[in-house]
Amino acid sequence: MTPGTEGYAEHAAELASRYEAVSFAGKHSVVLQFLPSAPSAVLDVGAGSGADAAWFSLMGHRVVAAEPTDLLRRAGMELHAEHSIEWIDDSLPELARLQRRAEKFDVVMLTAVWMHLEEVERQRAMPRLAALLAPGAVLVMSVRHGPAPRERRIFEVSDEETIALASSCSLKMMLAVRTASAQAANRIAGVTWSRLVFQQPP
Ligand SMILES: C[S@@+](CC[C@H](N)C(=O)[O-])C[C@H]1O[C@@H](n2cnc3c(N)ncnc32)[C@H](O)[C@@H]1O
Repeated sequence: MTPGTEGYAEHAAELASRYEAVSFAGKHSVVLQFLPSAPSAVLDVGAGSGADAAWFSLMGHRVVAAEPTDLLRRAGMELHAEHSIEWIDDSLPELARLQRRAEKFDVVMLTAVWMHLEEVERQRAMPRLAALLAPGAVLVMSVRHGPAPRERRIFEVSDEETIALASSCSLKMMLAVRTASAQAANRIAGVTWSRLVFQQPP
């Protein structure tokens, strides 16, 4: 099993319907200003059932969705069959398949994934993510804080650490804010999210 994916396969169907119920604009309102409007290359890492990937595809972008949990990836392929999304089985920290392709992206999304990696994995992952960014591209992250399901592998990750890691890869911080959860149950439970945007120098 890919480290970080603990607890996902067991509840894949229920999680997929929960992810699909949250609108992209509702979840990502604070980062919309950093997303390109012209057709671009987008990579969604830890894409889940592909709710974000489908939105990008609908907006006319070319989308690659990397998801290591088979049941979520297959659910995403079925749910969004009408969208042109390239699904691949790949995982952090190495993203080995993507690294072999040596392709660059204008946007790399990492929504609700980073806190599943332990510290050494985060240290390995950031340079690999930076290597996937084209000049001027953005890395858009959301990192969970607060109570978490027991069966998941979730670490408390400080913004300071993530900002320092990004900076060590020459990425410029464009945004660092804390928001409430877009999912009602999580909001009530006190879950908050760090929203971080980093840019590769043009
Ligand atoms: C909370 S879900 C978010 C799904 C999707 N990004 C969304 O916002 O709807 C976290 C996702 O990260 C994936 N994941 C967990 N560990 C991972 C890793 N090491 N590399 C890539 N993805 C991972 C899980 O399989 C799951 O799909």
